[in-house]
Amino acid sequence: MKTNIALIGFMGTGKTQVGRTLARKLNKEFVELDDLIVQRAGKSINTVFEDDGEIAFRELEIAVTKEAAGGKYRVIACGGGIVLNKINIDRLKQNSRVVYLKAAPQVILKRVAGNEERPLLKTPDRLRQIKELLSYRKPFYERVADITINTSRLDVAAVSEQIIDRLKEDECFSF
Ligand code: S3P
Repeated sequence: MKTNIALIGFMGTGKTQVGRTLARKLNKEFVELDDLIVQRAGKSINTVFEDDGEIAFRELEIAVTKEAAGGKYRVIACGGGIVLNKINIDRLKQNSRVVYLKAAPQVILKRVAGNEERPLLKTPDRLRQIKELLSYRKPFYERVADITINTSRLDVAAVSEQIIDRLKEDECFSF
């Protein structure tokens, strides 16, 4: 039986907020992979990208994913690039149902506005960058998803309810 929920999807699709809500409602432990990376690195994600580069960041991401994926009864909010390394998904799938939260590029743009803690969106044309990254990543998100929810027009509570409803039908998942 799988007892974890792993939330994947692009930046700004609500993984962290939905994850916190789900964990509270289902009495599971909430784990945010980006927070684990910050703890392990001893610096912010922006600083990891600036000092050490994206490859070093991805190595940290692989290490914390391994740590988080091994536990049980967890809600794991992943970073948007988790799907870039297949090993992460293989590890997550052992104990987790993978929930893909998606949203339209314009919606993502609005949701990330004013947030400077995203190194990959430090560019003059954010919408274009979002569209480019999304078009590359979309097939990966879709391939690994057990459940997909379009969050563009839903609030956090509604997304969480939909996920719970879908998991109730899932014979391999235990609350
Ligand atoms: C990234 C997403 C971020 C964070 C890092 C890289 C990505 O997480 O891991 O900035 O590659 O999409 P969120 O999706 O939680 O913003």
